[in-house]
Amino acid sequence: MAGQIETVMQESRVFAPPEAFMRQATISGMAQYQALCDEAGRDHDGFWSRLAREQVLWHKPFTRGLDDSQAPFYKWFEDGELNVSHNCLDRHLGTPVENKVAIRFEADDGALTEVTYRDLYHQVCRFANGLKALGCRQGDRVIIYMPMSVEGIVAMQACARLGLIHSVVFGGFSAKSLQERIQDAGAAWVICADEQVRGGRHIPLKPAVDEAFTLGGCESVQRVVVYQRTGAAMDMHAGRDITWSQVIDGQPDHCEPQWVGAEHPLFILYTSGSTGKPKGVQHSSAGYILHAMLTMKWTFDIKPEDIFWCTADIGWVTGHTYIAYGPLACGATQIVFEGVPTYPDAGRFWRMIARHKATIFYTAPTAIRALIKACDTVESTHPRHFDLSSLRLLGSVGEPINPEAWMWYYNQVGGARCPIVDTFWQTETGGHMITPLPGATPLVPGSCTLPLPGIAAAIVDEAANDLPNGQGGILVVKKPWPSMIRTIWGDPERFRKSYFPDELKGYYLAGDGAVRNRVTGYFTITGRIDDVLNVSGHRMGTMEIESALVANPLVAEAAVVGRPDDLTGEAIAAFVVLKQARPVGDDARRIANDLRNWVAHEIGPIAKPKDIRFGDNLPKTRSGKIMRRLLRAIARGEAITQDVSTLENPAILDQLKQTL
Ligand code: PRX
Repeated sequence: MAGQIETVMQESRVFAPPEAFMRQATISGMAQYQALCDEAGRDHDGFWSRLAREQVLWHKPFTRGLDDSQAPFYKWFEDGELNVSHNCLDRHLGTPVENKVAIRFEADDGALTEVTYRDLYHQVCRFANGLKALGCRQGDRVIIYMPMSVEGIVAMQACARLGLIHSVVFGGFSAKSLQERIQDAGAAWVICADEQVRGGRHIPLKPAVDEAFTLGGCESVQRVVVYQRTGAAMDMHAGRDITWSQVIDGQPDHCEPQWVGAEHPLFILYTSGSTGKPKGVQHSSAGYILHAMLTMKWTFDIKPEDIFWCTADIGWVTGHTYIAYGPLACGATQIVFEGVPTYPDAGRFWRMIARHKATIFYTAPTAIRALIKACDTVESTHPRHFDLSSLRLLGSVGEPINPEAWMWYYNQVGGARCPIVDTFWQTETGGHMITPLPGATPLVPGSCTLPLPGIAAAIVDEAANDLPNGQGGILVVKKPWPSMIRTIWGDPERFRKSYFPDELKGYYLAGDGAVRNRVTGYFTITGRIDDVLNVSGHRMGTMEIESALVANPLVAEAAVVGRPDDLTGEAIAAFVVLKQARPVGDDARRIANDLRNWVAHEIGPIAKPKDIRFGDNLPKTRSGKIMRRLLRAIARGEAITQDVSTLENPAILDQLKQTL
């Protein structure tokens, strides 16, 4: 990682925005960017209030922008009223957008479904009316456990329409993870599918819901709605389970939106922190949709004729802001994809770009790295064999993009003509924070460049002092912004401690390290400064994985660290002490495999440790503290240069160095 960052800091390649792009861009040229930054600098509140009045459709206009009287529990536009689904759908009725395709859904097997804005409005209304008939009321929490589908988006929009608070759980999470989220959110309703279809395989979802109920703690749930994606046979619990078609049957296709206050929670999305269980990041309605719309326009330069494709899953924040909400609020046509990039072969993304004539493509570095590798093996999947001439803009999200992958993306996918927006943001930030603007910012591979106007990002030391360019430190945001996290669901104290620790003097702590280029001031993210790992762009806490491991009856103790990985960015390395004697040879390999499957069952397959090593003990100080920095060095295969004199049991290091 350190080497990587050095490379980026010394990166001398600069790619100015192409003339043609710049001419038509929403933000054209650095002077326009600077003018917006200056406006925000002069009057932060006035800047955001102006944009909120221009972009958002208000049922009742707000009279006040920022309320910081209960900082860090900030409020924006609080006395305004709106409905987010109204902002995404109704606003297009009676305009030319009404008959425009909102969603082009491509199923795993390539089957295509097109939904216009009018169709989508009717589908959302019908489902919302069905939910109302079941008894859903404003403020109820709704767990959505669905595959990539039109119905998944309809479910989210229907919740927004009724003022229900959705919490989407990624379909790859286990029954146990699902149960924890149902319980933490106190969900009254669950919307799921029978199965999801990915890469030609059918993966059951409804059975995981049933299993979650058997784990207990789901008493708050009144009904489970099941969308029949495949029609697989399933157990239906009388009085609890009801199919999607039963819910919408006979329902009218018009449903008045429930007007809510600007601060009404639109959704909760669980994400990993450095300690404890995943936290329910709570977002607002108005501030959130404002930033979703603005960044569609600023970062993605969205235009009426664009075909937008964000490859994320609706289970992650990217799929919320840049699939379920942002593109719809802007009246864009978007592609929604059910499957995986490598099925039926690794040319799938490129074939789909050509098929749908996608103009904006937004994906994760992990996918790019995997596809680079795949076309090295199977040449016919190389982007050069597909007509990608429709593309005009590329985007990257979720993890650092290494300069080699950036250059390949730029040249091979973008034909050296499309800017790349490397967007840095988080579940907590609601939308982009630091990113190039494609018609303004000169690009440097591996750098997310500069903060958006109105985003007061800075790099400070541990006492919140500003650091000069060239010096790495802690990434903070000095002023509140409208789409920021409002609280952690049910745990305001954890919110305050995690994001606004006392020593940072009221700045928002992102949890990442960063450094700015000496000359350009461009930001490069250097990775998490806490115990959060980023594996293939998926965020995971080391503690969560450790807890899952020690829950196994064989395991006495476990420590988990991250190590760099060429493909997944970071990989999970686990050091395990068993209750029985340390296993060796085939025994060790078998138990390691069992433990991997155990973690997949406890959390989800994305949390499977790549390396597992067994020891008689873990390296500990005399006071019993596990020395993780030593484990990190071992996991990376580095020589241990640190002082080990405080170690209780130095001999253990040699044992742990042995791989299986
Ligand atoms: O470490 C940063 C990394 O992903 C974290 C946020 O993860 P999550 O909340 O799951 O949201 C991912 C999608 C927005 C950040 O703290 N990260 C995200 N984008 C970038 C990034 N690291 C480097 N460059 C990025 N563009």
